[in-house]
Amino acid sequence: MNHFLDIHTTDKDALRGIIDQAGQMKQARAGRPKGMMDDEQPLAGHMVALIFEKPSTRTRVSFDVGVRQMGGETMVLSGNDMQLGHGETIADTARVLSRYVDLIMIRTFDESVLHEMAEYASVPVINGLTDRSHPCQIMADILTFEEHRGPIAGRNVTWMGDGNNVFASFLHGATQFGYNLTFCGPQQLDPDRDYMDEARAAGTNVRIERDPWKGVDGADLVVADTWVSMHDAQSSRERRHNMLRAYQVNDALMAAAGKDALFMHCLPAHREEEVTSSVMDGPQSVIFDEAENRLHAQKAVMRWCLGV
Ligand code: CP
Ligand code: NVA
Repeated sequence: MNHFLDIHTTDKDALRGIIDQAGQMKQARAGRPKGMMDDEQPLAGHMVALIFEKPSTRTRVSFDVGVRQMGGETMVLSGNDMQLGHGETIADTARVLSRYVDLIMIRTFDESVLHEMAEYASVPVINGLTDRSHPCQIMADILTFEEHRGPIAGRNVTWMGDGNNVFASFLHGATQFGYNLTFCGPQQLDPDRDYMDEARAAGTNVRIERDPWKGVDGADLVVADTWVSMHDAQSSRERRHNMLRAYQVNDALMAAAGKDALFMHCLPAHREEEVTSSVMDGPQSVIFDEAENRLHAQKAVMRWCLGV
């Protein structure tokens, strides 16, 4: 079963194939209205369930549009409106949904929900973000980097801020795609220890740097994310802001990275907090290409899951 649960647990060649196919599919429909079908209809006759236990704009819309462009049908479900949110087990939900749909995408809190869904579903399951990782995002980010700069292997990626779920998938990506990764943030918000140990054991070039100026030195790509994620307590907001203020990506920091460095952010962004508007809307930013590429990358992910 081709579940797409995480980057580090997906075969390297499969990941490369997904990125390459995403690029080809994007080119093949360049300039078409968004609602026009692709020439190929690999998802014709397929039904896809999109389950959201957290808010979403990009993931929700890009999966929905992507399925339709490939000829499939979707249903978008909110966890709260399902019996899942009212005591039905994940295992039973997975077994029931598998009788109706061909593919399940889920955005949830604890990653154990995702893994249990995958264990009991008899159709492929895709991780649409958990508290711990966001693999679809990083597939889009790699596609975006390579469109602008060529192969990402051997290039330098610097993460600025919280060692969160999106960082974790960047770390997994470093192992599988061979780029060098610098985590630059305060010690209190260091990345997941197990993931760091695992990545290092797999030979990944990942380092921790506390000084933002040293962190961006030689970077080909600078990445930021929100300082307060959906799984973080709102009560931690002020404390997190105080810890992270020094890591804001602004014009001076991008200048230190060099004029060829790209800037990415998975969005939604908090302008003038983790990044200034001048950087978001400036010449080094590729944030909207990144958002668009969620669509193309996930279309290729779904094809791989379904083997179509
Ligand atoms: N980047 C991302 O996953 O955005 P949404 O939360 O809007 O889906
Ligand atoms: N780290 C953020 C990413 C949102 C797409 C969060 O989990 O809220």
